[in-house]
Amino acid sequence: MKLYQRVLIGGGLLCVIGYQAFNGQGARQTAAPNAQVERGRYIVEIGGCNDCHTAGYAEAGGKAMEADRLKGDMLGYRGTWGTTYPTNLRLTLSKMTEAQWLAYAKKLDTRPPMPWFNVRAMTDDDLKAVYAYIKQMQVDWAQPRPHFSRRTRRRSSPSFSGLG
Ligand code: HEC
Repeated sequence: MKLYQRVLIGGGLLCVIGYQAFNGQGARQTAAPNAQVERGRYIVEIGGCNDCHTAGYAEAGGKAMEADRLKGDMLGYRGTWGTTYPTNLRLTLSKMTEAQWLAYAKKLDTRPPMPWFNVRAMTDDDLKAVYAYIKQMQVDWAQPRPHFSRRTRRRSSPSFSGLG
């Protein structure tokens, strides 16, 4: 192996070790108890967001692993508006700054059965806590994201339907 190759490999290794050390510290920091995150978790729980945005939550009597929460659901809500699907809130918030989330939430206007009016009624402090909680969750880009569909619009009586 030539000298410059050794230097390159050695430098590369140092970068990796340095990055891991730095990253490890970051992980420890987020693992530390964070009052704002805990408050957000609480608001999301009593605010009923998991009821729809966490798959299987209501069926399990309000139990879900933290890793499974707020990823959206394939269970559709069909009515005069078409069929709506609870969105993956991790994805939604991952694309927003806190200020953008506040502005978005204050003007939230969706189709049923999403209680957008409940989100609008939240105080800035509550919305910030919800943001802190959801923002620190891992984002799974590979997750399927069912989209609102107008196809079923003609049906007038509301009903639920699984996707597939
Ligand atoms: C009764 C079921 C239900 C509950 C409870 C519910 N959602 Fe939703 N939510 C939905 C559905 C369905 C949609 C998709 C609406 C559409 O497509 O127009 C939605 C959409 C949204 C959106 C807009 C889409 C996006 O991702 O930007 C936000 C934000 C949102 N919900 C946040 C919340 C929060 C925060 C709570 C708790 C306070 C909550 N939801 C509670 C069913 C629900």
